[in-house]
Amino acid sequence: MLELHDVHIAYGRTEVVHGVSVVVPPDGVAAILGHNGAGKTTVLRAAVGLLKPRSGRVLLRGEDVTGLSPHQRVRRGLAYVPQGQQSFPQLTAGENLQLVADGRKDGRARTDEALDLFPALRSLLARQAGLLSGGQRQQLAIARALITAPRVLVLDEPTEGIQPSVVTEIQEAILALTRRGGLSVLLVEQHVGFALTAASTYYVVESGRVVGTGEGGLTSSGAVRAAMAI
Ligand SMILES: Nc1ncnc2c1ncn2[C@@H]1O[C@H](COP(=O)(O)OP(=O)(O)OP(=O)(O)O)[C@@H](O)[C@H]1O
Ligand SMILES: [Mg+2]
Repeated sequence: MLELHDVHIAYGRTEVVHGVSVVVPPDGVAAILGHNGAGKTTVLRAAVGLLKPRSGRVLLRGEDVTGLSPHQRVRRGLAYVPQGQQSFPQLTAGENLQLVADGRKDGRARTDEALDLFPALRSLLARQAGLLSGGQRQQLAIARALITAPRVLVLDEPTEGIQPSVVTEIQEAILALTRRGGLSVLLVEQHVGFALTAASTYYVVESGRVVGTGEGGLTSSGAVRAAMAI
């Protein structure tokens, strides 16, 4: 569904990703694990078109999109929730959702579906997004992405810096989404146990290289070894 093949990515002259390949299978979840600064966000930014790789290719639903803009990729079914729960802080939560829904015929129905996944947001729609907690902002950000009816959802550390009870809510919502079918997910996640439960395939990235990969599911011994190594 989404594939990166041997991508090299640089900031200015400094290459930080040295030939990473990642495959997100149809209806599957690929998780990228790794320490701070390993290059995880950089890989995601290349996947969604915010960074142009020096070399290598990005395929979306079989099409080579390496030269396409983020916007063109969104139109082909890609949605991205960046690290750090971004939304328009001055607008209410409801207005943040409406901005995305307004452009779509099915915007209303999609908004309802997204709110069913995050029911806690319903009572917060009139609140300014900037006043929401980190966990609530993250739920809002994922809900916004879902309104675009993505086929591939790219999530960068959706539970980073969030209180444990809300982490569980978000993790459960992601699992529910992936089990529903019709959606592939590329997930960067520091909670290794969750990543390996949710993922069909995992990749361990270190210093801009994939140093380990395997099947997800904490029951597999490879996954447990990877979890222990991080
Ligand atoms: N805009 C930038 N300009 C220059 N270097 C950058 C830029 N963004 C990131 N880097 C560097 O690229 C490397 C990879 O950063 P990246 O943000 O991809 O790591 P990460 O694995 O997502 O880390 P974290 O877990 O902290 O989010 C790091 O060494 C970082 O300092
Ligand atoms: Mg990052």
